[in-house]
Amino acid sequence: MAAGIDDISVYIPKLYLDAGDYALMRGVDATKLRDGLGVNQMAMVDSNQDPACLAANACLRIMQSNKLSPDDIGRLYVSTESSFDESKAMNSYVIGMLEQVYGQGSFEHCGGVETKFACVSGSYALYDNANWIRAGEAEGMNALVVVSDIAKYDKGSSGEMTQGAGAIAMLLNDEPRLLAFDPKVTATSIKDEYDFYRPFGKETPIVHGQYSNLLYLIQVRNALEIYKKKAAASGIISVGEGRSVLDYIDHLNMHLPYAKMGKKALAYLVRHEWRSLPRWKGVIDKVGMPEPVPKDPRGTIESILGDAEFMESDREFQKRFTRTDEFQEVYESKLASSLVASSMVGNLYTASLYLGFRSTIEFEFQKGADLEGQRFGFGSYGSGSSAMIFSGVIQPGYVQLARDMNLEAEIGPRKRLSADQYEMIHGNQLSPEESILSSSKEFVLVDVNTTPESRGQRRYVFNE
Ligand code: COA
Repeated sequence: MAAGIDDISVYIPKLYLDAGDYALMRGVDATKLRDGLGVNQMAMVDSNQDPACLAANACLRIMQSNKLSPDDIGRLYVSTESSFDESKAMNSYVIGMLEQVYGQGSFEHCGGVETKFACVSGSYALYDNANWIRAGEAEGMNALVVVSDIAKYDKGSSGEMTQGAGAIAMLLNDEPRLLAFDPKVTATSIKDEYDFYRPFGKETPIVHGQYSNLLYLIQVRNALEIYKKKAAASGIISVGEGRSVLDYIDHLNMHLPYAKMGKKALAYLVRHEWRSLPRWKGVIDKVGMPEPVPKDPRGTIESILGDAEFMESDREFQKRFTRTDEFQEVYESKLASSLVASSMVGNLYTASLYLGFRSTIEFEFQKGADLEGQRFGFGSYGSGSSAMIFSGVIQPGYVQLARDMNLEAEIGPRKRLSADQYEMIHGNQLSPEESILSSSKEFVLVDVNTTPESRGQRRYVFNE
């Protein structure tokens, strides 16, 4: 039985921090954000929004645009790393909000959990729900997988320039209009690591930024090795002599903590894949230097990052490599469109990979590309750490959906935050009733209970 993504909806909060304004506030070079990281604007939540509101708003959009009723939904999963309760799952809050619109008890039949594994958990949720459909358990119903996060870092930290917020809802079923998952290829890699984590009670993560960058690359490469074996064994891709598995993937979507990380990851994977192929010699000639090797090639991530000479020459090699026509061709044809939305919105943690997927469809379609039958690869990464590689094929029904995609219109008119407003939002100085924007047709947070017997209970309303 087929399983895949039938439709996708996006909810991005309307406040944003401009990269130039941020650079002025913190005294950093705006070019570092715009060119070095690919960050132009970072979406910010208002004081009456939390990750559950974002998720519920994304769900409502997909249900309304597809004229779905709660009876059409058999499972509702929310994947997040912005959880605010150690026990009560975020999907229960989302169901509570949706029932304000669809009626008390209307989702009673709907199973689901909140899933957690930093930015990769949405991919595990998609996989599990696709298998629920493949197993024939869905009985004609759909699954909703919602990825929702607020990427917030400490003031003044290097992560602060890679923030963002938003939610994406994906409708899964056995006759997907958008993308059918390739069966028996999903590949994972996992290792106990502390590259990025958020201990109980801490609002922002503890981050070892450069370590997490390199670990992301290594983990994704490990998962790609497993994907290659599974794709060959299942007969989905048989790699010809002198070719790479990447030659058979038309578009690649990578986890995007910031847009430029996608390009970094693509370059890393392409280097890894091409190194043993006949084409590499011609590429090296163009690069004009041999590929650097660390002093201890089997060393730890710390020893590689500490090898200053290697890091310096590898940066130079990468710069020259990414300018070659060979890499540029791969970058433009397989990845560039997926980065557009990320640079407008910033980091969405679990949702960033799927915003990239949405971005590819919208902006490739706008370019006039025919995506039907094309294979999309997904490179998912979550700190802590695990990577997942999987793929799928674009279905004929995608045209009908792509025609209506317009991210800018879907976000709606945005408000650029002043430096003072940003500091107040970041410092949680505003209560829900002091929100900067007044919204309509959206779920918002009304209050969080502070009494000893009901501490933490949240109230939401749907603003007419
Ligand atoms: N003009 C143009 N580019 C500039 C620049 C300037 N003035 N200053 C720096 N850059 C470039 C750097 O060369 C680098 O590009 P490269 O990686 O292609 O060499 C890029 O901007 C980032 O600079 P860097 O010095 O590496 O940034 P940083 O260490 O201050 O912060 C992160 C970057 C990603 C480590 C930081 O934002 C972070 O910790 N983020 C959160 C964790 C994260 O996202 N991890 C990713 C994996 S999940």
